[in-house]
Amino acid sequence: MSELPSLGMGTFRLEGDVAIESVKQALESGYRHIDTAQIYGNELEVGIAIEQSGVPREELFITTKVWLDNLTQDAFTSSVEDSLNKLRVESVDLLLLHWPEKDGRVSMETYLKLLAQCQQKGLTKHIGVSNFTIKQLDNAIDILGEGKIYTNQIEVHPYLQNTAVIEHCKQRGITVTGYMPLAVGKVMSDGVLIKIAERYNATPAQIAIAWQLKQGLATIPSSTKRKNLDANLEALKITLTDEDMREISALEANERIANPEFAPNWD
Ligand SMILES: NC(=O)c1ccc[n+]([C@@H]2O[C@H](COP(=O)([O-])OP(=O)(O)OC[C@H]3O[C@@H](n4cnc5c(N)ncnc54)[C@H](OP(=O)(O)O)[C@@H]3O)[C@@H](O)[C@H]2O)c1
Repeated sequence: MSELPSLGMGTFRLEGDVAIESVKQALESGYRHIDTAQIYGNELEVGIAIEQSGVPREELFITTKVWLDNLTQDAFTSSVEDSLNKLRVESVDLLLLHWPEKDGRVSMETYLKLLAQCQQKGLTKHIGVSNFTIKQLDNAIDILGEGKIYTNQIEVHPYLQNTAVIEHCKQRGITVTGYMPLAVGKVMSDGVLIKIAERYNATPAQIAIAWQLKQGLATIPSSTKRKNLDANLEALKITLTDEDMREISALEANERIANPEFAPNWD
């Protein structure tokens, strides 16, 4: 599939049979974007699930991400080939740099050019980045040129709305993919979201997803349960009002969940 579907399935933390079964269930439910990463250690299971699902390859949008250890000239391309072997595909639809390199071990120019080479070699249809700040995005565009970076995958949920980066990505023509859209389950007990959900006969998770969709973001909630996978997909049918959006905006708390020691200096 050539376009990034607005709602996909995340696979962080899913391992072994749970990963296989969850991805198969998601594909059965109608998900067509599966988001994995080298570091998740489940590309093999995602590949098995895709094969067993019987969904034709051209109907799928598969994303994987190159881990920090593999950003060097020696490791980059072979790590991507290894990912493709595990995923049992000839190419992915989107190849992301999982995190920007922090300690300067490899220059951004080196690893971005390696990423672009993977695209030229046909190992991926699109290329993109993840966890890039505004400054890093601008540097990346300077290196690769306009129109090359397809998406910036960043943490977005009602408690970390990331509006400055989203606005900048819009200005620069880059799609934002919001990760951890449910704040890893926290949204379920949020009084404001519960109240809005009641108005739509929906769940807080569905409202959190609909809030991302209304902003024009792609989003990738994760679940191991068929009921939740189905419900999350149903969020595509919910259109929030401007008033709902304002109420959710007020939940901003700068509460970042994914913040490892190698994270960049966030905007
Ligand atoms: N680029 C990056 O650096 C980065 C970092 C983090 C995550 N990600 C991507 O973003 C994806 C999503 O993030 P995430 O998985 O960490 O968190 P998330 O999607 O915000 O939350 C997942 C959690 O919510 C629960 N859940 C899902 N749907 C639910 C529903 N309808 N009702 C109640 N609970 C529900 C799941 O439990 P059940 O299994 O019980 O449903 C799971 O515990 C990841 O899987 C990964 O693909 C990317």
